Formats: sequence, structure tokens, C-alpha cells
Amino acid sequence: MRTATARAHPNIALVKYWGKRDEELILPAAGSLSLTLDGFATTTTVSLDPSAAGDLFSLNGAEASPAQSERVTRFLDLVRSRAGSSSPAVVRSRNEAPTGAGLASSASGFAALAVAAATAYGLDLDRAELSRLARRGSGSATRSLVDGLSIWHAGDDDASSFAEPIDGPAMHMIIVTIDAAEKAVSSREAMRRTAATSPYYAGWVDSTAHSLREMTAACRAGDFTRVGEITELNALRMHAAIEACEPPIRYLRAGSVAVFDAVEQLRADGIEAFATADAGPNVVVISRPADSAAVAERLGGLGAVRVVGAGPGARLIPEEDCA
Ligand code: DP6
Repeated sequence: MRTATARAHPNIALVKYWGKRDEELILPAAGSLSLTLDGFATTTTVSLDPSAAGDLFSLNGAEASPAQSERVTRFLDLVRSRAGSSSPAVVRSRNEAPTGAGLASSASGFAALAVAAATAYGLDLDRAELSRLARRGSGSATRSLVDGLSIWHAGDDDASSFAEPIDGPAMHMIIVTIDAAEKAVSSREAMRRTAATSPYYAGWVDSTAHSLREMTAACRAGDFTRVGEITELNALRMHAAIEACEPPIRYLRAGSVAVFDAVEQLRADGIEAFATADAGPNVVVISRPADSAAVAERLGGLGAVRVVGAGPGARLIPEEDCA
């Protein structure tokens, strides 16, 4: 029985991925840029079991839902077809972050699965190939293969759409958890609905491509202030496009908006902090490392607060029990 265990961390995008130009290959409508975190890890073990009737997937010690299992099996089918194997696998995964709460558990989940499954099935893939493979599970997983700041090139095709490292200013992220419950509309579904019905979708895609060029320049210049400004602007544009869907989707709650307000007040008080939010109510605030403790203290009354920094891309780890 071939077994491999990998660990990956979520990433939070500073320029967001929201919309696909190819649903099957998961090619994004525009490139994106993110920070891989040093907390909220997913640890996944893949063990081949040729005698099993089918794949088995457990999440945090319990059998996964049929929808989750089906998504894992579709991903393993890709790996099996490349490896020339038909063996089912037992997949055991443990998430430190609440699943489905907008803390990018699908990113760490598919990044860890890509590394563990590729190894268990005997594929010898380099980091860019693993990033491309993870992309097929969930777009944002592409970026969790990379240490720290990561740019996902939209690319022209499967071969050119992967993430690689990019230099940038040091920063911390202050995660403000407003609500850890599973979100009502998945990002996959909401992304589709935005592309199909939001009158702002075309503007979103164009402005994101432009923001990514500006963000890349700001990162290379080590300009934290500009990185922060583009981050907050890009997040609000994404939520504006999402809120204009039909039927509308509103991920930001009153508690989320209160964090954006508090961040604006922090800036007025001379502490540079900027807010972003994924497809959920939780808000992530970026600051210079020296300011993160003060920012966390100011935001403490608005939700559960955790400070994280830059973390490692997905990699193999010694065998562990994740059951
Ligand atoms: C708001 O990567 O979860 O977090 O490719 O359909 O699996 P699929 O979507 P997913 O979307 C992430 C959206 C986001 C923005 C981002 O991480 O860039």
C-alpha cells in the first residue's frame, strides 16, 4: 500500500480570483495574487487501497458528505489517469480552519491533496506542475503550493496557468472571524452566478487585470501602503460585482462592515491597516508586522482575532495519523 502525507496552508488573496474562463480546466478570467499563511493548516494522507470498492474520504475524523467525496474522487481520477492506475484510495484529511467559512479551506485542502495524491500514485511533478494539478481541484489551491506571496498567472492554457513566488513587503494578516458557520452559497456557485448575471462582471475582470499589474509593481517596490490600498479596493470591487448578481448574494454582514469601518479609523489614527474579505463574512486585515499586535487589539471586540504571517507552500511531511 503506497501512502503519502502532505500539509498545506490556506492563502488569502490581495488581488482576488473571481470568475473562470474555462470551468473544466479551472482557468481563471484574470490572474490573482495572495499570501500563503502560517496557520489553519490542512494535513492529508492518501493511501492506495487496490482492494477497496471505491475511494473513502474522511474529514476531521468523520466520513465526508457525498458532495465532498465526489469532488475528491473526480480529482483522484485525474491523478489516476496520469499515473495509469485504477486503484481506489483512502483519503484522511484534517483541517485546522472551520470548513466553508471563507477561510480558504478548499485552497489548503486541494493543495495538500495534490501533493499527497501525486506522491502516493507515483507521479514525479515539480512545483509548477503540482500548482497546475491543485488548480484542477479548486482554483485558489494553485497558490497554496507557493511559500508566502504568490502570483497565479491566468495563462493561456492548462500548461501556463500556475502560481509562482513574488517578492513583496513583509506583512501580517489579522483574521477577524465574524461567523464560522458554513456559507450559504459556495464560491463556485457564486462565481458562476456573478459571471452569468452581474452587470459589473466585465468591469470586474478588466479592473482586476489592471490591479494585478499595479499590485505586482507595488510588491516588487516593497510598497506596503500601495499593496494595502489595492487590496482593499479589489476586495470591495469583488463584493460589488457579487452583490449585483441575480438573485443577489451578500457575503458581508453588519459585523464585517464594522471591521472595514474600524480599519478606516485605524488609518485615520495613523496605523496603516487595510481590509479584505473572501466569499464569506470574515474579514482579513493586513498590516506591517510591527503594527499587527496593535491592530489585533483594536479589532478584538469585533470578532475572534488571530494574527498570522507568511507560511510555507504545500509539502510532504512525515507520516502522521490524521484519522
Ligand atoms: C473569494 O478557489 O474556492 O477566495 O475554483 O471554484 O474552487 P473554485 O473557487 P475557489 O474561489 C476562491 C475565491 C476567493 C478569492 C481568491 O481566493 O482569490
